[in-house]
Amino acid sequence: MSQKIHNIFTSIADVYDFWGHVFSFGIDGLWRLEVAKEAVSSDNDNLSDYRILDVATGTGSIAIDISRKAKAANKHVEIVGVDFNADMVNVAENKIKKKKINNICFKVEDAMDLIEPGCAFDVVTAGFLLRNVDDVETFSDELKRVLKKGGKFIILEMGRPENNFFNIFFKIYFIFIRLIGSLIDKKAYEWLTYSILAFDRKKMLKILGEKGFKDLKIKNLPFHIGFIITGIKN
Ligand SMILES: C[S@@+](CC[C@H](N)C(=O)[O-])C[C@H]1O[C@@H](n2cnc3c(N)ncnc32)[C@H](O)[C@@H]1O
Repeated sequence: MSQKIHNIFTSIADVYDFWGHVFSFGIDGLWRLEVAKEAVSSDNDNLSDYRILDVATGTGSIAIDISRKAKAANKHVEIVGVDFNADMVNVAENKIKKKKINNICFKVEDAMDLIEPGCAFDVVTAGFLLRNVDDVETFSDELKRVLKKGGKFIILEMGRPENNFFNIFFKIYFIFIRLIGSLIDKKAYEWLTYSILAFDRKKMLKILGEKGFKDLKIKNLPFHIGFIITGIKN
């Protein structure tokens, strides 16, 4: 699957941000801000070496939101954003150049086999990655390896809403997305809707629990299709 996913993001890299905001009516931005808020929140305000890894950073939106939130909270953080698609990373790099952000470093890396050293990060974030990988167990192992002891992960994902009203609403809305999406990139937007409906959040939580993470929580975001899973490395 990874080659198929890689090709999908190569073909939509330049339009990814634009159509993401349009199809979600801008709500995707609010979800990422929730991740950023959670990422910079810490019991210790005197952190001098706070390192955050954003896996599957794509066009870098979560990394950029974290950088902004940290600045607003007067916290010094170093952010590494990694993605296996160089075209997405190029867009991310252009964005930080334009915004003159200098505490983010983007790299091309595979989430299933990260080059980052072990026990190196206080926080790991991953936005909309899990639906796109074959083997969530391997990713969970990598997550555990790169986090410091007591470090936190924050996963942002989308899945079939558990609420009946929103479930029916999104089934209908997805017909519209597939229709408009077919004019932009048929494969990409078919995959988007298919992978959202197929993602099993409870199974993911179970896997993370079996890997030994503690304090596992799922927080539903407005409209119940997006959610954030958090947990701590034991
Ligand atoms: C839906 S985008 C999300 C991007 C970003 N996190 C955001 O919030 O917009 C999914 C990203 O995951 C990346 N991706 C998928 N599989 C990956 C893997 N095995 N390793 C690294 N990145 C991966 C894709 O290249 C793409 O940029």
